[in-house]
Amino acid sequence: MSSSREITLDLVRVTEAAALMSSRLLGRGDKNAVDQAAVDAMRGMLDYINMKGKVVIGEGEKDEAPMLYIGEEVGNWGENAPELDIAVDPVDGTRLVAYGRPNAISVIAAAERGKIAYIPTFYSLKLAAGPELKGKLDINAPIRENIRVAAAILGKEISEFTVVILDRERHREIIEKVRSLGARIKLISDGDIAGVIAAAMPESFVDMYIGIGGTPEGILAAAALRTTGGEIQMKMWPINEDERESLEKEGWDLEKVYFTEDLVGGEEVIFAATGVTNGEFLNGVKYGKHKAITESIVMRSKTRTIRKIITYHDLRYKTIPLKSEGEVKLVRIDY
Ligand code: FBP
Repeated sequence: MSSSREITLDLVRVTEAAALMSSRLLGRGDKNAVDQAAVDAMRGMLDYINMKGKVVIGEGEKDEAPMLYIGEEVGNWGENAPELDIAVDPVDGTRLVAYGRPNAISVIAAAERGKIAYIPTFYSLKLAAGPELKGKLDINAPIRENIRVAAAILGKEISEFTVVILDRERHREIIEKVRSLGARIKLISDGDIAGVIAAAMPESFVDMYIGIGGTPEGILAAAALRTTGGEIQMKMWPINEDERESLEKEGWDLEKVYFTEDLVGGEEVIFAATGVTNGEFLNGVKYGKHKAITESIVMRSKTRTIRKIITYHDLRYKTIPLKSEGEVKLVRIDY
C-alpha cells in the first residue's frame, strides 16, 4: 500500500462532496433522499481516485443496493494503483439530517485488501474509550465497574465522567445503571460513529461510549481509532432468537470480543469524515451566498496524524460529479 498516502486528501474530497450534497436537503423530512444525495456524490468522487478499491462496507448486498454495494469496484483502477478495501457510510445519521438535528457525519475508510473484518449481525454491543483506557476496560464486566475503573485512571470524579449512549428503549437498563452511579450521560438520538469517535479522541470531553448500534458503524469507528489510539470492543448482538440460532449453526462465536485491530487491521488505515450537521468534534456544512464551508477530519494510522481541514467552497465555480445510474454527471451546486 505504498502510495496510499497520496489519496488522503482525495478521501476528504469524497466526504466533503457527500456532506455538501446531502446537507442541501436539511430538514426536508426525507431521509432516503439525504442518503441518495450522499451516495451519488461519493460514487462520483470515488471514480477520480487512483486506487483499485473494493467496497466492503457500503449500502448493502448487491441485490438490495444498486450503489456502493458490497463488492463494487471503485476508483480508477490505474495500473500501479494501490489495492484497497473501502468502507463507507455516506451519511451516518440520515434521520438527523432529514430533521435538521446535530451529529450527522459522512464517513469513508480505506485499508489494505482483506484487513476490514466481516461481521454478519446488523447490531453489535460496543464499548469504546480513549487511549488512556486502552486495555483497561472489559465489555463483559458490569457497566458501573467499567466506569469506576475508567474514572480512577482518568483521575475524575464519577460526577465528572461522561458516557455517550444512543437514546433507545433497549438501553433503558444501562442508562438507569449509569444514572444510579452518578455519572453524566450524553444521550444521542442517532449517529454512533461520531459518538464512538468523540469518546476515543485524545483530550475529548466525553469519556466512554456504551451501547448497541449498527455493526458497520462500529467497524468504521474502529478505523478512526486505529489512529487516535483509543479502543473499541464489540460483540455481535443478534436481534432475536432466530438470528442467534442461525449464526450459531453457521459456526459464529457469539461470545467473541472484537478489539480495534480485529475490526480493522493492517499497517495503514486512512479514515476521513466531514460534518453534515454540527457535532461533538466536527461542525456541519454552512451555506452562505455562493459559498459553503465544510469541516473535515482525516486520520492516518501509520503516522498517527490527525488533520482537521476547513474548506471554503466557492459555489460559482464548484462542480460535483454525481454518479447515480451509470454515467457521471457534473453538477453545479450553487442555489
Ligand atoms: P443511519 O444513518 O443509517 O440511519 O444510521 C444511524 C444510526 O443511528 C447509527 O449511527 C447507529 O449505529 C444505528 O443507526 C442504530 O440503529 P437503530 O436506529 O436501529 O437503533
